[in-house]
This record gives sequence, structure tokens and C-alpha cells, in this order.
Amino acid sequence: MREPENETRKMVFQPAQLVIHENDAALATCVAERVADLAAQAIATRGEFRLALAGGETPRRCYEQLRNLPVNWARVQVFFCDERCLPRGDKQRNDTMAFSALLDHVAIPSANIHTIAAEYGAFDAARNYAMLLNDYAQLDLVLLGLGEDGHTASLFPENPATELNDAVVAVFDAPKPPPQRVSLGLHTLQQARHRIFLVTGAGKHAALQAVIDGASLPAARVGLSEWHVDRAAMPEVC
Ligand code: 6PG
Repeated sequence: MREPENETRKMVFQPAQLVIHENDAALATCVAERVADLAAQAIATRGEFRLALAGGETPRRCYEQLRNLPVNWARVQVFFCDERCLPRGDKQRNDTMAFSALLDHVAIPSANIHTIAAEYGAFDAARNYAMLLNDYAQLDLVLLGLGEDGHTASLFPENPATELNDAVVAVFDAPKPPPQRVSLGLHTLQQARHRIFLVTGAGKHAALQAVIDGASLPAARVGLSEWHVDRAAMPEVC
């Protein structure tokens, strides 16, 4: 994993918690239980749980487990950490996976599901989502994946959008298709009460090693997080 030349500063990998799971199934069960616990705490304390879902494939099993847990979905507001600029309903959209694995299976009011209208293009969708987010002071939990280049949400290394201070950013020229995306901005991820990373598979070795070694990658810059990693993704020696 080559560290971007223009970022020489080193980060210190300080996970709030690093949990290594035997396999992706165990990771999915554990993280689903963590989400349900954080939901119960937030609802008991503040009457509402504001959850931003991760995209990609890794969280699918976790969402499938989460739908069977006792969560008061009427008190949950669901957001998305990012969305791909594709037609609504496209199989490659992050919200399509979330509906199929979780949201179509739980008693959550449709008004509580805040999808990103990425089908209208990154700029308009980012502006509209930022206005929506503005009505919700702070996210309680953001779930995040780790890309093989160290990206998270749709914040990619050396992409201008990653450095913007906006609450929601329009992303162009993303190296992971599609090139046009919408993402919660780095600051929004940093401001959430909790962050949980889900990382599985040998393909994530290099990225995880780089994060542990202090590379200033987007995934390393979101703030103190819980890292849930399966053995396959964990670098041999770290
Ligand atoms: C996306 C995701 C992205 C994802 C990572 C990991 O739109 O692709 O938001 O950040 O979480 O790329 O993807 P996998 O879970 O599929 O490995």
C-alpha cells in the first residue's frame, strides 16, 4: 500500500477497541449486537437512535443479523454514510443492499429512512442531504467499511472531496466505480458519537496494515473508532 506522497503526517492508530473475530459470521453477530445495544442506550437517554449505515458488501451479514434483534425501530432514524450515483433501485446502490438485508424486514416507518438522492447527481444530492442532516444535531453511530486503498464511506485517498469541511460532499473520479458518489464529509464522521468499522477478508490486509502503521488514510482520520476485524483481514504481525 503506497502512502499518498502529499500526506507525510503520521497518525497513531488508537482504536477505541480492536476486536478480532474468528470469521465474518462471528463479526456480523457481534457488531449487530453492538448496534442493538447502542440503539437501546440512545433511545433510553435521548429518545432516538440516529444510525448511518455503511455501504459495500461487508455489512450485509451484520444487517441480516440485526433485523432479528429487539430494536425499537420506531425510534430509529436511518441515514447512509455514502451513496453511489446510480438510478434508484440499482443493485449496486448502497441503499438497495440495506433495504434487502435489513430495512425491508423491520418495522421502521418509511419517514425514518433517509436515503441519499444520488440519482440526481452528486452536487444536488450532497446539498440536499446536508440540509436534511442539519435537522439532526449529531449521529449516534456510523458504521464504516475499509476499502483496499484505505478509503471509507466515499472518502478516497488524494481525492479533493476528502479534504472538504462540508457536512456532505460530492465525490468525483472515485477509483471504486461508480466515479460519482455522495458521502458524509470527514467532519461529520468525526462528530458522530460512535464509529464502528467492519473489516473482513484477506483483501484488506494491506489497508489495515497501513492504518495500523499510521498512514494518514481517510479510514484513519475519522476519529476514535471500534475496529471489528476478522482473522482473514488481520495482518500477520502487527
Ligand atoms: C462503497 C462503500 C465503501 C465500502 C468499502 C468496503 O460505496 O463501496 O461505501 O466505503 O465500505 O469500499 O467495501 P466492501 O465491504 O464491499 O469490501
